Amino acid sequence: MTNPRILISEADIQQRVRELAAEISADYAGKPITLVGVLKGAFIFLADLSRHLTMPRSIEFMAVSSYGMRTTSTGAVRVLMDLRRSIEGKHVLVVEDIVDTGLTLHYLLELLATRDPASLKTCALVRKKERHEVDVRVDYLGFDIPNVWVVGYGLDHAEDLRALPYIGVVDPDDE
Ligand code: PRP
Repeated sequence: MTNPRILISEADIQQRVRELAAEISADYAGKPITLVGVLKGAFIFLADLSRHLTMPRSIEFMAVSSYGMRTTSTGAVRVLMDLRRSIEGKHVLVVEDIVDTGLTLHYLLELLATRDPASLKTCALVRKKERHEVDVRVDYLGFDIPNVWVVGYGLDHAEDLRALPYIGVVDPDDE
């Protein structure tokens, strides 16, 4: 595969992650927060974001999947790994690497809202608004991006390239 073209540089990502963390820290004003990272893609963003926050924070993960392998969303989402702890009465911030069709985040918000958190907000590093199939609220957004296939900083191409420090663009048909 040819090298990905840089869409968002490592420096720009790190700067924006610090800005988001400062905004989140100010909004919660010292209140303890439960970060819910959505595996796998969010693991790097969550690691960096969580280290810049200033309030007490616990870190949880969920794994969800659409049915089957995909390069486009099918709309069906299933929980592969659920939270280990109750979020009842907690301030929950769901952390995603990307919001594409919006179906995953929309599903997760509906599910988590049934568990009576004190508050429920969302943070995503990148969003492809033109691909949205549902309206979904992103309270803290890193970047809006065009409809291109992105890799790196947690995002994969056939499970490869997640560890790139920048977000790059590849041709999904390029082997
Ligand atoms: C990606 C991403 C989101 C979801 C967004 O996960 O991490 O969870 O897709 O897409 P949507 O807005 O169209 O629902 P993916 O299913 O690729 O799994 P991964 O994070 O394990 O790579």
